[in-house]
Order: sequence, then structure tokens, then C-alpha cells
Amino acid sequence: MKKVLIIGAGGQIGTELVLKLREMFGNENIIASDLKDECPSLIQDGPYVKMDIMDRAFVRNYIIENKVTEVYLLAALLSATAEKNPDFAWRLNMEGLFTILDLAKEKHLQKVFWPSSIAVFGPTTPRVNTPQYTVMEPTTVYGISKQAGERWCEYYANKFDVDVRSIRYPGLISYKSLPGGGTTDYAVDIFYKAKETQSFTSFLSEDTRLPMMFMDDAIRGTIELMETAKENVKIRSSYKLSGCDITPAELANEIRLHMPDFHIDYAPDFRQAIADSWPDSIDDSEAQEHWGWKPNFDAKSLVKTMLENVQVSAVK
Ligand code: NAD
Ligand code: SER
Repeated sequence: MKKVLIIGAGGQIGTELVLKLREMFGNENIIASDLKDECPSLIQDGPYVKMDIMDRAFVRNYIIENKVTEVYLLAALLSATAEKNPDFAWRLNMEGLFTILDLAKEKHLQKVFWPSSIAVFGPTTPRVNTPQYTVMEPTTVYGISKQAGERWCEYYANKFDVDVRSIRYPGLISYKSLPGGGTTDYAVDIFYKAKETQSFTSFLSEDTRLPMMFMDDAIRGTIELMETAKENVKIRSSYKLSGCDITPAELANEIRLHMPDFHIDYAPDFRQAIADSWPDSIDDSEAQEHWGWKPNFDAKSLVKTMLENVQVSAVK
């Protein structure tokens, strides 16, 4: 019997992951949890528990007492927010992972999902079609925590037979839930501003190319990786996935095909340096070969879907 706990369920990924997992496995089998006092409205149709991943004793008791079988651990500080509070970001991003990996090592959990990021790469990484195995010298606290997390996941898998699975997500673009403090957030904000005022000021320069992905693909890829047979998961650090790579100027050009008066200007801030340290594009052949990954959305279909679905009134 599957009983899944999603920690950090109120965020950009968690909201959509809860909705999809409940559709597939039944509302009562998918427990959402977050720091937030109130369950976010979109995921009120199933169980919710207020939980701080830093409270190791509470998390352990809850998982053991409720016979949880799988955890998706999403609680973290993202790249831009983490740079403002590096000590706390390191603790949050690492301590929660150990709590969950230890529970799996003790066989209280059958499977764990933990997300990594393109932030594991750094300025010395080959930027174009970045391969799985390459130079990784991240320069942000977020990237350092994700790289360390990947090493620990692989270690627990090899030493203790922990079934931990991971994806290095690119920047995720979605309309159901807002992003939570990353460097790629501009690629969501742009759609809200386009619909609200037909203009947008980007905090990244016009030619900053980054790997991006539409949320539907990210959720589908995550569940496909979690549901594939154990022997297909040959990489226990983290799989890179590619969706579409795009610059702010190219995104604006795509939006202009639907909104000819849309205007963009550029005012790069501290996030530019973070973006400059990340790859332009990703080679995801291992995910394709090992468990059949394939993205459905390119830049064109992503922009069209975002413009059709973004609701400005929902975030006011
Ligand atoms: P988010 O910031 O939107 O959501 C994180 C959620 O975690 C929030 O709802 C927050 O309230 C909750 N949270 C924070 N501290 C917590 C704590 N102590 N205990 C319990 N919950 C807590 O983030 P997201 O975009 O949904 O990202 C989820 C994961 O995916 C993170 O690990 C992130 O690094 C990774 N990731 C995201 C992206 C992206 O583009 N969104 C890309 C790469 C990797
Ligand atoms: N979207 C994330 C960020 O910008 C990438 O991990 O932080």
C-alpha cells in the first residue's frame, strides 16, 4: 500500500506534484506537508500536516507512526534566497535530507525523491549540452548544498541500499503556483507582467541562456522516475533533464507573437552572477536511455500554454 508524504508541498513544485499524485493514487494516500499553518487552497482536497523538516523528532515520529512508504523532500531555500542567508540555507538544505535518508536506511521508507538542480554546475563546467559527468564547481551556497546532497544520496544508495531517486531540474515555469526565490523566477514573472501591463523588466540580461522546463514535463518526469523499476535507476546521484533553453530576449520574442505590444527592458541584479555560473543547455541522454525520458513542451508550446492559463487576479 502506497502512502506518500510530500514535504514542502505548498511550493511551486509541491502544489502540482500533490495534485498529480492524488489523481493517480487517490487523495487519501498522498499527504501534503509544509511549514505553512494553513493548507494551500489548491491542495485542500486531501490530508495536510504542518511540518518543519528541521524538527527531526517530529518528522521521524510522523513517518513511522503513519506508516509512510515514500517521501518527496522538496523543502529548501532556492538559489537567490539562499545567497541572502547562506548559513541557514546550508542547514535547511542538508539536515532535512539526512533525516529522510536515515529513515530510509532504517527501512522505515521504501523510496525517497530529492530534487537537485542545474546549480550543481559552476563557471568551469562546459556550458553547452552539459554532460552528466563533468567538472562541477558550484559557486553558490545553493549549488554547493545540492552537489553535497547528490553525493550523500549516492552514498546512502551504495552503502545502505537506500532507494533514493533524484533529478537535476532546470528552471521550472508554471502557472498554478508561484516560484519561491530562484534565479530562474524571471521566466515565470514575465508572463504575469505581460498580462498585467504588457511590459517587463528582467533581472537577467537579454542574452542569458538557461535551461528551462514547463512544470507539466517536470512533474511527469519526476513521477516516471519514481515509478520505474528499481533496476532502471542506474544513476543514484541525480539525473539531468532538459526541456528547452531560452534567453529573456527569446522569451519576449515568443510572447510578442501573441502580444505584439509587449515590451521588455533589462536591469540585471545580483542574480546575473548566479545565472552566469550555470550551463546554457543540458544533455539528458542518460535519462532518455535508462527510463525513457522525453520532454513534451518546447518554447513555443510553453509560451502559448502560459499565456492561456496565467491568471493575474489569482496573485494580487
Ligand atoms: P518553493 O520555494 O516554491 O517551495 C518550497 C516549499 O518548502 C515552500 O512551500 C516552503 O514553505 C516549504 N518549506 C520551507 N522551509 C520548510 C521547512 N523547514 N519545513 C517544511 N517546509 C518548508 O520551492 P520549489 O520551487 O517548489 O522547489 C522544491 C525543490 O525543488 C527544492 O529543493 C528546489 O531546490 C528544487 N528545485 C526547484 C527548481 C525550480 O525551478 N522551482 C529547480 C531546481 C530544483
Ligand atoms: N530554479 C532554481 C533556482 O533558480 C534552479 O534550481 O534557484
